Amino acid sequence: MSFAVAIDGPAASGKGTIARAVAAHFGFLHLDTGLLYRAVGRQMLDGVPALEAAEALTPDRLNDPSLRSAEVAQAASKAAAIPAVRAALVDFQRAFARREGGAVLDGRDIGTVICPDAEAKLFVIAAPEIRAQRRCAELRGKGAEVSEAEVLEDLRVRDERDMTRPDAPLKAARDAVTLDTTDMSIEDAVAQAINLIDRLR
Ligand code: C5P
Repeated sequence: MSFAVAIDGPAASGKGTIARAVAAHFGFLHLDTGLLYRAVGRQMLDGVPALEAAEALTPDRLNDPSLRSAEVAQAASKAAAIPAVRAALVDFQRAFARREGGAVLDGRDIGTVICPDAEAKLFVIAAPEIRAQRRCAELRGKGAEVSEAEVLEDLRVRDERDMTRPDAPLKAARDAVTLDTTDMSIEDAVAQAINLIDRLR
């Protein structure tokens, strides 16, 4: 039996943390689809054309620790606006979503484009300042020297690009449940997500 959980939302909304916790709780596999675009962005910065990088992408590239940097995030968002790059990554994501035993995918277009028939769809949001605080703490935890203002600006530029691109823009699927994590602890957000999915199983 397959059971697909689609979790979309803007950068640093908490969707990745929720996706990991949901996958662990139900014993589902988890795919952070942002990593696919980040791996393409990483190679773009190294001079590889985006489409070439997307077509030749292999799973081992997703383990590169440098994929988390803000520079790679911006390159990822630029690569993600190219329709042919997105098209090259569709089959892998769809096959992952339908693997036996259940799968959680988090990204921007999972509920709308990759898996419109997902059994559960969540759209995770949070106020920009809160998202910037969280991402800043995460980056500092990894030793990066960043200010909240620059992280906020990075998120703003990326969200704007992701929401306004013509192909697979960031938006909630009509049948997604929105979870606003602005005033929620991570434990509460995870508990709400698990509750919702439990009711759909
Ligand atoms: O989720 P994360 O911040 O790692 O994603 C990096 C970038 O990849 C996003 O800003 C977005 O442009 C792109 N992305 C996308 N579709 C997805 C996942 C990520 O366009 N499903």
